Amino acid sequence: APEPVVAPGVPYVSAVDPGIYVDPAVFAEEKKNIFSRTWIFLGHTSEVPRKGSFVTRRLLDDNIIIVRGKDLQVRAFYNVCRHRGMQVCRADDGETKRFTCPYHGWLYDIDGKLTSLPLEKPYFGEEGLDRPNLGLKPLERFAEYKGLLFGSISAEGESLEEFLGDFAWYLDIYLDRYPGGMEVIGEPQRWRVPCNWKIPSENLMGDTYHVQYTHRSVAEIGLHPNKPQDFGASGKRNGVHIDAGRGTTGLTRQTPQGRGYPDEMVEVFKQHMPEGPRDLIFGEGNDYWPSRAHLWPNFSMLGAGAQVAEDDLVPYLFIRTWVPIDHETTEIWSWVLVEKEAPAEFKEKSMRAYTLTFGPAGTEEVDDAENFASMMRVMKGAGGRRINQILEMGTPEQMDDYVIRDWPGPGTAISTSYSDAGNRRFHHLWNTAMGREEAK
Ligand code: FES
Ligand code: FE
Repeated sequence: APEPVVAPGVPYVSAVDPGIYVDPAVFAEEKKNIFSRTWIFLGHTSEVPRKGSFVTRRLLDDNIIIVRGKDLQVRAFYNVCRHRGMQVCRADDGETKRFTCPYHGWLYDIDGKLTSLPLEKPYFGEEGLDRPNLGLKPLERFAEYKGLLFGSISAEGESLEEFLGDFAWYLDIYLDRYPGGMEVIGEPQRWRVPCNWKIPSENLMGDTYHVQYTHRSVAEIGLHPNKPQDFGASGKRNGVHIDAGRGTTGLTRQTPQGRGYPDEMVEVFKQHMPEGPRDLIFGEGNDYWPSRAHLWPNFSMLGAGAQVAEDDLVPYLFIRTWVPIDHETTEIWSWVLVEKEAPAEFKEKSMRAYTLTFGPAGTEEVDDAENFASMMRVMKGAGGRRINQILEMGTPEQMDDYVIRDWPGPGTAISTSYSDAGNRRFHHLWNTAMGREEAK
């Protein structure tokens, strides 16, 4: 077998067994070995801006209330009444002073404390109940990184900081570039696609190859920043792919202005970014801008643009999570992320550009969804699932040649965005979490 290449310790996984997408037993194992153990993205702090703002979120089969308390801390609780297990909060989001259980009317405050219940003394005795011990149960682990909120139903395991590792350095390019930070626009858009959660994760994380073919029509109508004939034309030196910590990110060889950001905003980026990322983006001779990122297991970001008019390229950044409902259903949760202090006009244009291309009915989104659903259909057959797939774009020799040895940031950087490096690494993480042998 070829030697490990690119990221140290990551073997060259070159084949994929379709069974991992279509077999319900594999999904049952993933629930146990992946989603019940690791950090899972749940939302953004800007969704709960004020005291009493809350959202409810799905973490695998659990429902979680995320609420900003009286002390302005954001907390996460299981959305389960301590009395008889009723779902306490049935709204997707809102602002409240208390949560009242619809079954018997127990009342919890925004810090999760059980404050009162109907007819406590007559029915539960003069002493009443042990209310301090009957508050909403907090999620085992809950933490924030620069606005991104993550939770885990496992009490054990590494801290979020350890989990992110070197990936945090790159996250800062997306999240720490403006005073006041980033915020989401409105509520998350949600829709379901009949496919396994790994298919869209892999597509967005590492499949640059499909853009020139699947999305060609978007370029033909002039909405894509690239002309149809430009796709991949710059050959391998067209972008940088980085593996760092549990994440992977792609940078395009483009300035932020080239990506459509107005000069005034670019000036602020330059002032605000932490030193390392700032030198990378704005350093002498550099022309990089972040385009996509994926964090194990199911969180993605995409910085893209839509050519809304011939002379108007509008950039946007979206964050999303591929929520597994079952082995063949993914619920996509998608938010547009903008600089909180950006001009209102920019925010609005950014949202529109996203909606045109990657909203639930966006041009590129529907192209992708059709592929995902169609792959699932044919992989499911008893014979179809025996047909292994290949992840051979970028041979070990090529990958070795692509490594940028004097890369200024952490992790491993390679000088192409056209390779299966990201997906190979994803399968390596998957195999490790699932305790499986690597496929050769
Ligand atoms: Fe909630 Fe009884 S189940 S008050
Ligand atoms: Fe796509």
